[in-house]
Amino acid sequence: MRLWVILAGLLLLVVGCATSQASADDLPVGDASRGAALFKQSVNGAPECSSCHTTDGSTLIGPSFKGLSSTAATRISGLSARDYVYQSITNPPAYVVSGFSNLMYNQYAQRLTPQQIADLIAYLLSL
Ligand code: HEC
Repeated sequence: MRLWVILAGLLLLVVGCATSQASADDLPVGDASRGAALFKQSVNGAPECSSCHTTDGSTLIGPSFKGLSSTAATRISGLSARDYVYQSITNPPAYVVSGFSNLMYNQYAQRLTPQQIADLIAYLLSL
């Protein structure tokens, strides 16, 4: 009996640790063309990504997304490109790109739907 309690506790601990890692695994399948449109529009009171990011290599307030499909996987060791971009959108202060400040709007996790986040990730990883 006591062993089961300990095992259940350990299981909860493991699950807790696993879910605290940024993961895009629970998102629906994203659509890059919808993501391209979302990139340029304000959603649910949140500013459009294009007010701070470009896709052509030029820098605004945040880094350009040109080539992000290759750089994203190299940012945090152990985090896939998809999970990194997911974390960047939903929890920007978790990692601040070198040379930039922690200025990204930080309410996208609340303002965007999981589908919209998935669409944006699909778009960014096509760049
Ligand atoms: C108010 C300005 C601002 C807005 C709006 C903004 N960002 Fe950012 N973003 C930044 C800044 C500044 C950084 C660099 C600092 C950091 O890593 O948090 C950044 C970093 C990122 C990165 C990491 C890029 C890399 O090269 O590693 C991703 C991905 C990203 N933003 C996605 C988005 C998406 C998607 C949106 C729209 C849903 C968005 N951002 C809206 C300012 C912004």
